[in-house]
Amino acid sequence: MNKATRILDAASEYDISEAGALLRRGELVAIPTETVYGLAGNALDPSVAAEIYRVKGRPSDNPLIVHITEMEELPPLVEEIPEAALKLAEAFWPGPLTVIMRKSALVPKETTGGLETVAVRMPSHPAARAVIRAAGVPLAAPSANLSGLPSPSAFEHICDDLNGRVAGIMNGGDREYGLESTVITLVTKTPRVLRPGGISVEQLRAVLGDVDVDPAVLIKPEENARVSSPGMKYKHYAPRADITIVDASLETYAAFVNAQENCTALCFEGEEAYLTAPAVTYGKAYDALSQAHALFASLHKLDAIGAETVYARMPRKAGVGLAVYNRLIRAAGFKVTVPNDTFVIGLTGQTGAGKSTVSGQLVSFGCAVIDCDKVTRDPNLYSGECLEELKKAFGRDIVREDGTLDRRMLANRAFANAEATETLNRITHPVIFNRLRDEIAKCRESGKKNIVLDAPTLFEAGADVLCRRVVSVLANADERRARIMKRDGLTTEEALRRMGAQQSDEFYAGRSDFVLDNTVSVSAEAVHEMLTAMGCALN
Ligand code: TXA
Ligand code: MG
Repeated sequence: MNKATRILDAASEYDISEAGALLRRGELVAIPTETVYGLAGNALDPSVAAEIYRVKGRPSDNPLIVHITEMEELPPLVEEIPEAALKLAEAFWPGPLTVIMRKSALVPKETTGGLETVAVRMPSHPAARAVIRAAGVPLAAPSANLSGLPSPSAFEHICDDLNGRVAGIMNGGDREYGLESTVITLVTKTPRVLRPGGISVEQLRAVLGDVDVDPAVLIKPEENARVSSPGMKYKHYAPRADITIVDASLETYAAFVNAQENCTALCFEGEEAYLTAPAVTYGKAYDALSQAHALFASLHKLDAIGAETVYARMPRKAGVGLAVYNRLIRAAGFKVTVPNDTFVIGLTGQTGAGKSTVSGQLVSFGCAVIDCDKVTRDPNLYSGECLEELKKAFGRDIVREDGTLDRRMLANRAFANAEATETLNRITHPVIFNRLRDEIAKCRESGKKNIVLDAPTLFEAGADVLCRRVVSVLANADERRARIMKRDGLTTEEALRRMGAQQSDEFYAGRSDFVLDNTVSVSAEAVHEMLTAMGCALN
């Protein structure tokens, strides 16, 4: 802890060349990358690798990533360049993807933790690239945290960890992604993701076809098990606070946390309103990139405020969310709690996509289904103040002489444009929401554990806060139009108007744990597989 550490500025050309000179001399310099800060040193010098392990306090069998700036720097590092590596480089380099290949003799075993393979990444951050160029050698750079603590996504964090231990720390502000790169190995028969990150599994599959995900990404590796990525067996990303992930709907989460004493909540932005406990947020509920960006800083913040017992909201595992979950579950030492055994699944999607087919299949697997359309069709639901407001907004003639609601007339007026739809939602959603809550309670009392909320406007009604998981059923627009014309006896124009008032595919996909494409059909096997994957115990 007594080294003179120079603070360098990523925006200064002079400091970049200084960093290069230090690195060439075999010193260590912490540098910004687009993911997290890296603790960089000459990747081809065995004694430098040893120094990186020493400073980081990292077990020396945990290999380092070798960073390059140009494709010409790759061939000398590897035995051969697999076809798949070229495709990945074309699609994602420079960027947050690390590719594992067989190493050449040039790369010392010290750098690869004794392995015959080497992990290579081409960062996109301009300062990282400039420093590699200035150093004139590939740079080994693990995340610049001390082993076991959260990765550093902000300059202050690395200063806390590394000041006095390295020759230089370069200030490059906050990071773009905030989570480390995706690590994929090409030495297995099928390419395999060892660590999820900013490039999602879905993106990798779009380029390579088949891609596996290593089991250790999601579950705790067995003691002494052989893991493909040594980094995954160590306690990782852990702040001092004791974190438990709560697998529940937002309502259940809030009720659980509010019943605990002396705890801190780690939740999404805006959810503090549900909580009585102090809260630290990590991004927005339906925005995995924002969660990735905020997570490590939020873990640091928990330590900074002295949080001891922390209950965290469960991130979705889709897309970049998988990387968020992977880091958080390690920060939590794999502790997940499920406060109650009711499993409410939100089932949503556009009209005509075929939710009813899927809900029928869910019933056959023993789920109770609450049909929200049916709930909203109940004429008794709209009474008193709510009915008066509807009349004011859409005309007195939406109520027939016998006092019943003419739903078709209301629908035609309310779905005529986005503004009218919004007015309808504002008036009816609170009433619908309360009824749904009652229906769920009724199912629960009758002994049903798996409850499906079949709700076309799940999100708009705010009913997603009642759900532990959300499934969207989507289908191609022509198919949906044909279906609703046939089902509801609509003209093309009426059908298109109704569809126009609805949310896009992206809206649903971005908010769901699972998406089922029902343009042709959804098989019972697919539904069963989904229920199993979401951890829903089938009876
Ligand atoms: O975004 C990132 O990748 C950051 C920035 C600084 O580039 N670096 C980073 O490095 O996160 P590090 O050392 O903290 O994580 C490297 C991970 C570890 O889990 C390690 O086990 C794995 O990659 N890894 C490296 N070489 C490997 C190899 N040859 N075989 C299997 N896993 C390897
Ligand atoms: Mg790390």
